[in-house]
Amino acid sequence: MPRQPHAAAKPLPAEPAGDRDHGLSPLGPDPEAPAEPAGPLANARAALERLSTWVPIRSLARRHRRRIAEHLLALTPQDRYLRFGYPASDAQIHKYALAIDFGRDEVLGIFNRHLQLIALAHLAYGQSLPGEPGRTMAEFGVSVLPQSRGRGLGRRLFDTAGLHARNRGIDTLFIHALSENRPMLRIATTAGAIVERDGSESAAWLRLPPDSFGSQVEQALARHLGELDFQLKRQAQVLSGIVDGVAEVKAHFESSGRAAKE
Ligand SMILES: CC(C)(COP(=O)(O)OP(=O)(O)OC[C@H]1O[C@@H](n2cnc3c(N)ncnc32)[C@H](O)[C@@H]1OP(=O)(O)O)[C@@H](O)C(=O)NCCC(=O)NCCS
Repeated sequence: MPRQPHAAAKPLPAEPAGDRDHGLSPLGPDPEAPAEPAGPLANARAALERLSTWVPIRSLARRHRRRIAEHLLALTPQDRYLRFGYPASDAQIHKYALAIDFGRDEVLGIFNRHLQLIALAHLAYGQSLPGEPGRTMAEFGVSVLPQSRGRGLGRRLFDTAGLHARNRGIDTLFIHALSENRPMLRIATTAGAIVERDGSESAAWLRLPPDSFGSQVEQALARHLGELDFQLKRQAQVLSGIVDGVAEVKAHFESSGRAAKE
């Protein structure tokens, strides 16, 4: 819930011993997962699991600002409150979409087959952890349209954001959420994040392992597949437009023919 693309963050809470070098998953330990040995095999297994439930995620660019704004404008006032920490007005959403710095940050999106942006994540880079100059942090904010929730899209965006941040040398993913936001906090804690509750607001920190050859390959592969998926959906839409056009012309000629006969 970055209220601004760059929200101020408090120092990290003390981390349980051993968390840094877990190496079990690119995103940290799953507290519900059975214990298993760390290593390349476990990492490869985790990557395969993610690929088997693959969701096409696309990196968005400046040209997508309009779609980003449309997605956020489609959120209800309550969702806007959960997403931004305040009930963002239409004007504030436009301003936010215009202010995203694509040269520094990353914006990830999931499109449905009608090319509607149904899920969106903003990964804000360039933040530092107060009192820990050697550490690097990125802040994660996400929204999924109401009709597409509960299908794991929010979690997939979170996992992908963690992978991208890790591959950029970031060691901590930060999430600022309202304490009432149980789905968001559930996503963060399941990934292994440490959550600090402060009244109505909560902060979650997820330590990321360093990047590896495997994590870089996984990101590159997912990027190509996401792009391919989008192009296929676009072509399907063009094709469906042509079919509709032909049907319309045919109907027009049929009705004119009937009129002429009459
Ligand atoms: C938070 C949000 C992105 C989640 O998106 P989503 O696609 O529905 O999330 P997922 O389907 O990946 O997973 C949600 C998880 O929360 C759980 N969950 C859902 N409702 C819950 C509730 N009321 N209490 C506890 N857990 C809940 C789900 O069971 C799931 O966990 P599981 O996979 O372990 O079963 C979405 O609700 C949203 O857009 N909210 C408005 C904006 C927002 O709050 N953004 C976050 C602030 S940055």
